[in-house]
Amino acid sequence: MDKPHNKPAPAPDALELLKADHDKVKSLFREFDNLRGSDDADQRKGELVDEICYELTVHTMIEDEIFYPVLRSFIEDDDLMDEADVEHAGARELISQLEVMYPGDDHYDATVTVLGEEIAHHIEKEETDMFDAARRAGIDLDDLGEQLAARKDELDEDLSSPATSIDAIEPRDMGRRMQRPPN
Ligand SMILES: [Fe+2]
Repeated sequence: MDKPHNKPAPAPDALELLKADHDKVKSLFREFDNLRGSDDADQRKGELVDEICYELTVHTMIEDEIFYPVLRSFIEDDDLMDEADVEHAGARELISQLEVMYPGDDHYDATVTVLGEEIAHHIEKEETDMFDAARRAGIDLDDLGEQLAARKDELDEDLSSPATSIDAIEPRDMGRRMQRPPN
């Protein structure tokens, strides 16, 4: 039998890349959910929540910086985009709460659950309304996929350097991204 050719897989387009991120986060939330009620799972719960917060932070950044501004400029649906901005702000708020919590803390599991529910709703909306709009709008999704992948690599590199915390990463110009109120 011939050896299989190791052809490199084609780079994912923007929607495939974002969907793969969604699937990864959903499976992390599912694993957390399966640990609810077990008393000796604190370590694994903490690892999962670290991973969820990391994945969501990188994912929301590439959407805020690249995907949302492009989509907003192509489609005339400010309501859809404004709601997504507000949902991202809500997720960031819960992530920042989780970053200073530990498994076993009061409301720890509940905070993860609420974040998971909000993200599930957000993903559902993105994968239907937004992805449909992006397909119809004639956006070059291959080119956008390359931009998203490149920025993701850059953020992964920045965040994996031990001296850098997520809070130290400067977001790029985010077009119409919602400003956070001053602390
Ligand atoms: Fe997304």
